[in-house]
Amino acid sequence: MRLRVLPDSDAVAEAAAREIAAAAQQASMERGRVLLALAGGRTPALAYRRLAADPWRDSVDWPRAEFFWGDERAVPPDDPASNYGMARRTMLRPLGIDEGRLHRMRAEAPDLEAAAREYEADLRRVAGEPPVLDVVLLGMGADGHVASLFPASPALREGDRLVTDVDGPAGGARRLTLTFPAILAARAVLMQVAGADKAGALREVFAADGDADRLPARRLHEAGDRVLWLVDRAAAAALDHREAPAPSGAE
Ligand code: 6PG
Repeated sequence: MRLRVLPDSDAVAEAAAREIAAAAQQASMERGRVLLALAGGRTPALAYRRLAADPWRDSVDWPRAEFFWGDERAVPPDDPASNYGMARRTMLRPLGIDEGRLHRMRAEAPDLEAAAREYEADLRRVAGEPPVLDVVLLGMGADGHVASLFPASPALREGDRLVTDVDGPAGGARRLTLTFPAILAARAVLMQVAGADKAGALREVFAADGDADRLPARRLHEAGDRVLWLVDRAAAAALDHREAPAPSGAE
């Protein structure tokens, strides 16, 4: 795995925008299109705003991009908690992306299981069989969750389905999420982790005896070099450098 420690969440977002633009340019050159899965969360939002502004907005051939989502809450698309809504406001509308390229998770549907199956079918139709996304963007919660794969969830053990419906955190809306088979099939996974509240979980994710059932992000740590961790200093503060690879600005 690759780990880059950066000064703060703005620097994480800037590095993420640069990585996304580079991966998109490469995908567009090599395969003629770009398949991205977007995340919710504060740091991804900062990265999206950068991608929609100079110098990144013109560095990617955006009409070649297809946008998927890593997860979504069971709310309508115009709800402030919608990951689709957030990405649309911060990046997709400013870039003028064609609606037909936005593969939104219909998590407001009454039958979430059916919505998960439809999303999986769409992913298979667009991203090949088996589907391979160019970049999956992810954040990590303070409990170690990624996308909507929460600690101890049965969805962590999903081996076949690429999309599933899950419970959210206690009291929160249900959700749709990509599963690990979909995430780990991607050409690249970009983890953005910022904030002191993530330090404890991150330490455990990288610890020699880390437990992927308790800390789902551990699965990304085990996935090797296709995963790039962009972490701010506050989140990296508790890393045990005897166990984690030596962090550096340049890798
Ligand atoms: C969501 C997510 C979730 C998020 C993390 C980190 O919709 O909430 O997709 O997995 O990425 O909770 O979020 P922050 O960057 O805001 O801490």
